[in-house]
Amino acid sequence: MGGGFDLEAIVAMTPDRVIGKGNELPWHLPEDLKQFKARTTGHSIVMGRRTFDSIGRALPNRRNIVLTRQKLEIPDVEIIHSLEDLNSLELEGKVFLIGGAEVYRLGLNHCKGIYLTQLKQEYRGDVRFPEFRETFVKTEGLFENDDFTVSYWRNNSKK
Ligand SMILES: NC(=O)c1ccc[n+]([C@@H]2O[C@H](COP(=O)([O-])OP(=O)(O)OC[C@H]3O[C@@H](n4cnc5c(N)ncnc54)[C@H](OP(=O)(O)O)[C@@H]3O)[C@@H](O)[C@H]2O)c1
Repeated sequence: MGGGFDLEAIVAMTPDRVIGKGNELPWHLPEDLKQFKARTTGHSIVMGRRTFDSIGRALPNRRNIVLTRQKLEIPDVEIIHSLEDLNSLELEGKVFLIGGAEVYRLGLNHCKGIYLTQLKQEYRGDVRFPEFRETFVKTEGLFENDDFTVSYWRNNSKK
């Protein structure tokens, strides 16, 4: 992934790297959603079609980009059929990979870093964030409350 933008991942996971269950988030954490909104507003977000279905609408004040193999037209959404297609969208600034598991598997190693929410409690789920600790190192703690921490992890394989 090249061009004039920085690709970043953003995710919330449990200690066992669970990120979803039945195409939903297994938890309700308004403070984490608030941080997600603050971090991504004004930028671009890239998601898999199932994550888009789960959210159910384009999120305001962001470029919404959805990865699918289908021929889809969705209001306020730009459709791509591979992550390489991002290079032809003339993106600028920060572009966030917001999930889900399939999209993280495809794109994580192209990301400059991860804005990582780590829940303190375990939840059952059916999708997990990929292993990332061999490639990414924690460089900054950003937030902590009773339920979770947020930190930034830099991709060590990128200059
Ligand atoms: N905790 C978090 O931070 C977080 C963040 C996001 C999502 N989630 C959770 O993650 C779950 C969804 O994740 P998921 O892995 O099931 O689905 P996903 O990654 O959101 O979407 C998968 C879809 O992306 C498209 N796709 C995947 N690979 C592709 C490729 N190579 N080329 C073109 N299109 C491709 C396909 O769409 P088509 O089927 O339309 O072709 C595929 O069905 C939900 O439970 C959601 O709540 C959690």
